[in-house]
Amino acid sequence: QTIYLKDYTPFGFTVEEVHLTFDLAPSATRVTSRIKFAPNPDATDKTFFLHGEELTLRWAKIDGETVEPTITAEGLTCNVPNIPFVWESEVQIDPAGNTALEGLYRSSGMYCTQCEAEGFRKITYYPDRPDVMSTFTVRINGPEPVLLSNGNPVASGKGWAEWHDPWPKPAYLFALVAGELIAHPGKFTTMNGRKVELNLYVRPGDEHKCAFGMQALKDSMVWDEKVYGREYDLDIFNIVAVDDFNMGAMENKGLNVFNSSAVLASPETSTDQNFERIEAIIAHEYFHNWTGNRITCRDWFQLCLKEGLTVYRDSQFTSDMRSAPVKRISDVIDLRGRQFTEDQGPLAHPVRPESFQEINNFYTATVYEKGAEVIGMLRTLVGADAYSKAVDLYFDRHDGQACTIEDWIQVFEDSTGRDLGQFKRWYSQAGTPHLKVTESYEGDTYTLTFAQHTPPSATTPDPKPQVIPVAMGLLAADGSEAMGTQVLEITKDTQSFSFPGQPARPVPSILRGFSAPVVLDHSADHAFLLAHDTDPFNRWESARALAKGSLMATIRQGKAPDSAYLEGLTKVVADDSLDPAYRALMIGLPAQSELAASLHAEGDVPDPDAIHLAVDAMREAQAEALQDMLHPLYDAHQVTQDYVPDAAQSGKRALGNAMLALITRRDGGAVAQAQYDTATNMTQQLAALGFLIGAEQGDAALGAFEAQWKDDRLVMDKWFGLQVMKAKPDDAADTATALTRHHDFNWKNPNRFRATLGALAMHHAGFHAKDGSGYALLADWLIKLDPVNPQTTARMCSAFQTWRRYDAIRQTLIKAQLERIASTPGLSRDTAEMIGRIREA
Ligand code: ARG
Ligand code: ZN
Repeated sequence: QTIYLKDYTPFGFTVEEVHLTFDLAPSATRVTSRIKFAPNPDATDKTFFLHGEELTLRWAKIDGETVEPTITAEGLTCNVPNIPFVWESEVQIDPAGNTALEGLYRSSGMYCTQCEAEGFRKITYYPDRPDVMSTFTVRINGPEPVLLSNGNPVASGKGWAEWHDPWPKPAYLFALVAGELIAHPGKFTTMNGRKVELNLYVRPGDEHKCAFGMQALKDSMVWDEKVYGREYDLDIFNIVAVDDFNMGAMENKGLNVFNSSAVLASPETSTDQNFERIEAIIAHEYFHNWTGNRITCRDWFQLCLKEGLTVYRDSQFTSDMRSAPVKRISDVIDLRGRQFTEDQGPLAHPVRPESFQEINNFYTATVYEKGAEVIGMLRTLVGADAYSKAVDLYFDRHDGQACTIEDWIQVFEDSTGRDLGQFKRWYSQAGTPHLKVTESYEGDTYTLTFAQHTPPSATTPDPKPQVIPVAMGLLAADGSEAMGTQVLEITKDTQSFSFPGQPARPVPSILRGFSAPVVLDHSADHAFLLAHDTDPFNRWESARALAKGSLMATIRQGKAPDSAYLEGLTKVVADDSLDPAYRALMIGLPAQSELAASLHAEGDVPDPDAIHLAVDAMREAQAEALQDMLHPLYDAHQVTQDYVPDAAQSGKRALGNAMLALITRRDGGAVAQAQYDTATNMTQQLAALGFLIGAEQGDAALGAFEAQWKDDRLVMDKWFGLQVMKAKPDDAADTATALTRHHDFNWKNPNRFRATLGALAMHHAGFHAKDGSGYALLADWLIKLDPVNPQTTARMCSAFQTWRRYDAIRQTLIKAQLERIASTPGLSRDTAEMIGRIREA
């Protein structure tokens, strides 16, 4: 069954007040609800339909009189009066049997919830849609020492606690947590003097992993006040870490629930990258309090309204806390890896989709990351000040409402006077625009001509020109700036911009800061830009373009790695005036899947083995080109101070480890083994372990690592994942198979499942092994997991989305697996939709 944006109608009733009572028991929790409904004057359809799934209804009453509703698998209908009334019901649910991790479930002995998008209907009968907002009062009865819900604590006693959330919210923001938990406490005073109690709740044993998350929360609270003028609005803010969670985290009002991998951190168990991600996710969920909770979405088609904006806000936060260029480069790597892939294949959809079968399948890189890019472009187009004014107007005008993208665009139109009609196409058109650039120089006038073209996709067969903000500058032949950064606004299919008064032909630097999520087609002077560009993003991009060009020539014609690239790289890596983190990024190469995508886009059939060999040859060439500086730079970037996960120290470790990767190619692992043996933090330990495995010297270290960390689940996830990631292509499936037989392979835990099988799906040459072993193994496990956890299964089906890129043999092998999954009896709606979309390509 497909749901369409165009079919939206408001619910026939408003909800004035919700009272819930939970009597907790692992397999038989009782949920009693008392809900005040009133007819909605704005609605025409007055059907009283309450969502409800997997509930056992014990009784229901309207205004105290027992009623007998009509019940289906999706919910119930009932005759109700045409005036305000009170609905009461009691249902029984089975948290212990809930392996889908949606609704109320058990994780490591505690109770927790995940309601977004449509999980509340597995807790009680309710209009489970984001445009129905109400205040909630929740009483929890249970023997657990910690009993939490949204809002402020009202009262508690032995075996019970009561919570009241004064802010009207949709049911997807409901949360309940109960268990034997330890609080890591904190305090915050808001800009207007509200004293807020903060807690990070964890299982006993994880207390030492809380300090960083707590600090990140405080930093986020300060930042949102300073930059967006947004203040926290309750007396308490709780975060809970849970081990079994389908996603990263969830912004439930006043009670954020986190995948433990997205909040727990210590130097010994977490890498620098883990710390940075945790800081960003804590910020993200906290920022949702305004962009998501105070102002929410009218319907799930508007998901990007809260997600795109909140991702944009968390990226601004990380840029401010750490290095803006490094953050931008990392985000673009991620965007190209995940979102461009989506746009190029059968799963392409607009930032605001117009139809879906299962909304959980639309928590995608397109909605989140491209959604954030759209906000960034809007800010670039209107300017920072106008952006702030528009966002202020958004908060003023829409506080307490469930909104649409139209509302969002309207505040920008009203506050800037601009017509954003064409800009709005970014929300409705799928596909990544390609921007072809040509240059001319006549007299003293330099001219750039841009031609845009978006490849058609299933949901957008006939794309129209979009508004593309192109930040650019001009450099003179000596590397000085001939013209500083300007923003060109491209709106037409083809458009020229002239720059008179250029005494000599300048070198253009186009799409600075990656000012729009497009594919730039421009034969730029990358070697010159790598040496001279004043824009750090484009300087990095030039190295990337040279590396990619060289790799493509190796793959296609067997050419040796490009010496101009290696020379340029050597200079940048040697330049001590540059941030070590930035220099480490410079050494990176495009993902093998990105090379496959480019080959496919240019009409070739990618050969995963050839791509793998080309990348290996390039790494070897890097090691040779940089050989004289490998050891000196490695030594110079050892951190001797106490471990801090800040940008400065992590940058040093990143560059040091980039050197170690290349050193290991030359020394066979001696330095890596020494680093492994003396490491005092996970960043150094894990990096060394990875290089040792790569050099086929990892067995002893892997054994030692397991012995050291067998009781730490998050660290063991790394152990599982790394072995697959570092496997030789021919061994990847066998390595993953062996790991699935390990006694610690708990396949029902999404983190462990993803660490092992997700890593296989991301191992390009391993997953696409010619014998089809990678495809078959993943399919086996998806079929096994689907009845247990449809969401995580469906999400991992995307590993197959690129299947049309490959040769006939591989396509046949993948097709067989897709058909095998599709014909599995009782396949979930989630997985059925994903496989259906992927097969239709
Ligand atoms: N709103 C959450 C976030 O962005 C994600 C929750 C998604 N959950 C889901 N089942 N699709 O932080
Ligand atoms: Zn979010």
